[in-house]
Amino acid sequence: METGPAVVKVLTQDLVGKTAVVTGASRGIGRAIALNLALRGCHVLGTCSCDVTYNAHIISLQDSIFNAYRATGNLKPPLLEACVAHLTDPERFCHTLTGLLEVSFNNRVDILVLNASLAERKTIEDMDEDHIYRNLVANVETPLRIVQSLLPFFQPSSRIIFMSSEAARLSRPGGLMYSASKAAMESAVRTLAEELGLRRGMEGTTVNSVSTGLTDTGLVKNMDKRLRDSILSRESAKINVARRIGEPDDIANVVGFLASEASRWITGSVISASGGSTKIL
Ligand SMILES: NC(=O)c1ccc[n+]([C@@H]2O[C@H](COP(=O)([O-])OP(=O)(O)OC[C@H]3O[C@@H](n4cnc5c(N)ncnc54)[C@H](OP(=O)(O)O)[C@@H]3O)[C@@H](O)[C@H]2O)c1
Repeated sequence: METGPAVVKVLTQDLVGKTAVVTGASRGIGRAIALNLALRGCHVLGTCSCDVTYNAHIISLQDSIFNAYRATGNLKPPLLEACVAHLTDPERFCHTLTGLLEVSFNNRVDILVLNASLAERKTIEDMDEDHIYRNLVANVETPLRIVQSLLPFFQPSSRIIFMSSEAARLSRPGGLMYSASKAAMESAVRTLAEELGLRRGMEGTTVNSVSTGLTDTGLVKNMDKRLRDSILSRESAKINVARRIGEPDDIANVVGFLASEASRWITGSVISASGGSTKIL
């Protein structure tokens, strides 16, 4: 089970009273983002894809947050609720989120992190209609339908952050639909920035993508040791600021900044969180 940093401490309480929705909050980067926001006082509604994950990973996340606040002796922990919602069922995903926002979060969303995605691999020779359709639904339709369904809940100066990948601008044989769907969403983010920035009731809202480089989450951690060692040595050689690949916390700090008030003048952008392996002009 992913547990994140060994010592979890409460951070500056700059997000008290705000509510964040984080998709894919049970593991990897999404978990680190949910933790970052909650440790700053933000209520979090997180999602995962299955009951087993809910029981194992979400409960450990709830414990980490609760223990960090208990250690302060006086600060009250924010609410962390989670639900099971599958990216390939946009209708039910949105219905589940809006239902919980009404019941438990006072009908408000200040921060939306579109983090979960499908990462299925197929070459042009192997792909079939089902693969194309499933990936477009999970990685393009569902995130856009989530934004649409949350329109009545967003507050002024909301933050919408899409987790992209450096794959959006690289050629990655076998990752056709994944790369293409990340590129499609980066494009959609630019339009959303323009459509939502001055929307009535959402004035000051920003919409950005975070282009993430290779990060040490489940996929990499669970690899066979020899393959993992060879990937780590090849990929860490591309990083400018250290000889290692990213940790979920490296990415969560960038998303955490984009979620803050201080990021108010950044919108419609792609921010590279890759230690310099991808440079975006
Ligand atoms: N890790 C990297 O190297 C890397 C690089 C570039 C971009 N990114 C992007 O960063 C984001 C997070 O990646 P990660 O590596 O942190 O992923 P991860 O460790 O595999 O975690 C994925 C999260 O998304 C949920 N999820 C997975 N499939 C789902 C589905 N079909 N429906 C609903 N939820 C689903 C998982 O829930 P369960 O726990 O229930 O499975 C989990 O919470 C993704 O958008 C990914 O494309 C990652």
